[in-house]
Amino acid sequence: MPHALSPADAAKKAAADAALDLVAPGMRLGLGTGSTADWFVRSLGAKMRSGALTGVVGVPTSVRTGQLAEREGVPLTTLDEAGWLDLTVDGADELDDRLTLIKGGGGALLQEKIVACASDRMAVIADATKHVATLGAFPLPVEVVPFGWETTRAIVEATLRELGHEGCAIALRLHRDEPFLTDGGHFIFDLSLGAIADAPRLASRLIAIPGVIETGLFVDIADLALIGAPDGAVRRIERG
Ligand code: A5P
Repeated sequence: MPHALSPADAAKKAAADAALDLVAPGMRLGLGTGSTADWFVRSLGAKMRSGALTGVVGVPTSVRTGQLAEREGVPLTTLDEAGWLDLTVDGADELDDRLTLIKGGGGALLQEKIVACASDRMAVIADATKHVATLGAFPLPVEVVPFGWETTRAIVEATLRELGHEGCAIALRLHRDEPFLTDGGHFIFDLSLGAIADAPRLASRLIAIPGVIETGLFVDIADLALIGAPDGAVRRIERG
């Protein structure tokens, strides 16, 4: 007898399965990273293996997602080969009513943003815990070049001070006591902001710092959010 899903997994799977309805034969898909995006890849693979969906090709946003997609039998290509994508489906760490997102909890924010921005549409899949009134309780991931990272951190700190985030903790993300390395070989700072009042301003100020590669703030990128509930219900939010 199959194991019953936890309420959290049931909600994530409900959102992922709703996103599968957006996929048409022959589409080029961006495949996100994280536990919710994993549910989408699994459902996509099951539908393709059953023959109910053909000709779809995926561009993974991380090594991890690529490995899962291969195991699930989802044909893969690179973004450069695909050129442009029809749809990206990805999770989020937080999303608000305007569909501004915080992403990067899994460390794949750079590829996730490149892929989402090279897609006709981006659909976010999430459980209701990710939908917040104000972004910022989840620490904002910022991907930085290892060279001179401590100086970059000092500049990030000064920039945050100017923007009113005095004293906000900036943690270098670690993995087994070593700096966490992204798939691109970069470090990540996690910024404990508490609340983000002006996401576009914050994103543009951070990205202007030379050592900063990308931020986990996704502004005006997601078109649609599918918010799953443990009972299988899915709430849809469109960007206005
Ligand atoms: C990966 O870098 C992230 O952007 C994920 O999309 C995000 O952390 C959501 O992950 P979960 O679906 O596991 O919560």
